[in-house]
Amino acid sequence: MRLSLVVVLFLGVAAAARDDEDSYGDELLDKKEAMKERKEERMAKIGTRLSRVRPSDRPPRASEPTRVLKPQEEANCPIGCTCSKNKISCVNKDLDASLFLQIQPIAFPNLDTLVLTGNRFADMSGPGLFGNKNMHESLTFANLSDNRISEIAQDTFINMPHLEYLDLSNNRISVSSDNPFGGLHKLQKLYLANALKKPITGADRLSTLFDARDRQLTHLESIDLSSNKIADLTRDTFCRVPGVAELLLAKNQLSSFDVAKNCLSGLKRLDLSGNSFTTFSSSLFDLLPSLTSLDISENPIECECGMKEFIEFAQKEDSKFLNQDRTKCASPQALFGQSIFRVKLESVCVPKSSNVFSNLFLLALICTVGFFVYRFYRHRIPSPAVFQFGYSSLNERESRREEAVPEPAFL
Ligand SMILES: *[C@@H]1O[C@H](CO)[C@@H](O)[C@H](O)[C@H]1NC(C)=O
Repeated sequence: MRLSLVVVLFLGVAAAARDDEDSYGDELLDKKEAMKERKEERMAKIGTRLSRVRPSDRPPRASEPTRVLKPQEEANCPIGCTCSKNKISCVNKDLDASLFLQIQPIAFPNLDTLVLTGNRFADMSGPGLFGNKNMHESLTFANLSDNRISEIAQDTFINMPHLEYLDLSNNRISVSSDNPFGGLHKLQKLYLANALKKPITGADRLSTLFDARDRQLTHLESIDLSSNKIADLTRDTFCRVPGVAELLLAKNQLSSFDVAKNCLSGLKRLDLSGNSFTTFSSSLFDLLPSLTSLDISENPIECECGMKEFIEFAQKEDSKFLNQDRTKCASPQALFGQSIFRVKLESVCVPKSSNVFSNLFLLALICTVGFFVYRFYRHRIPSPAVFQFGYSSLNERESRREEAVPEPAFL
């Protein structure tokens, strides 16, 4: 009797944990239990489904009504998803991460495209999404955007050794170990727009994302980190991914961009639009020798004296800049809203004559007043030590002269 009560209680807790995927902490343990249970359930189901698939070489029995046999991929398609030989899509189904365990390589040997969006995968930091050692050898494209993913780790993607495109946009990922993409040796494009949990504490968290070992991520050529509220980057964040040709950092909160020497030396396209830059320097192009396309639009650029040199450079090299009409001066008032590519160079950094005049006048006034004040009060200032020293030295000199006088008498 008591035992059954305990069992009922436990099931209740497990069900509650299942309902509330987004909260962690105390319920984590219960959740893990529930997950394990569900995994076992699902695996059992897969087992029975697989056994239902009829080997194609066996002719249908005469007693059965003749009907079109579903191909293996369709028979094993997870509920709510659409499947073909090469592709599985589960879109806006609110499924949890146990979905991956229903997508086994043995049932989908030719799978190359996975589109799982609009679900709730939450924590994916466990080892191997599809269960350990179950490799999807043909999988090259995985769109896992918009799945409320909360955590990834080093082993999350180990069952996709040939993945080339990975979309993790629109999640809230925190990374629980370094180098989570290191196992993706063929990865070319990584989409992480609006993907990271905010706020990103310290620039270091970004460095750990790309802390690849030698011969890892050598094919990675495009990283999209737009819309992540990134406020600063360390100089060597991208030093371990030397092949990157495209870096998209639009719509963050950056106000500077610095790179260690010989990092990102192959970078061709850099998007810094929609950030918080007030100034830029043409030395950016020295830092990034391969850079041919730069977007600095939608930044609050101060077209003041310090920017004159860059504006001149930008106008001369304007073929390297994208979205020029949206690259505008935020100040001074006189140039507000003008594109830095159209603004007249003579109008940048003109000293305002009235200002200069009034400043000079003020300076002269202060000097004059100061001078008269000094003269007036000079004698009332208590004589400082210097004066006393002066007198005493005068005395000394006098006494020395007295001593010096008799000298000729000796001669
Ligand atoms: C992934 O899916 C989302 C939602 O359908 C879509 O907007 C996005 O473009 C897809 N990503 C790629 C790389 O195709």
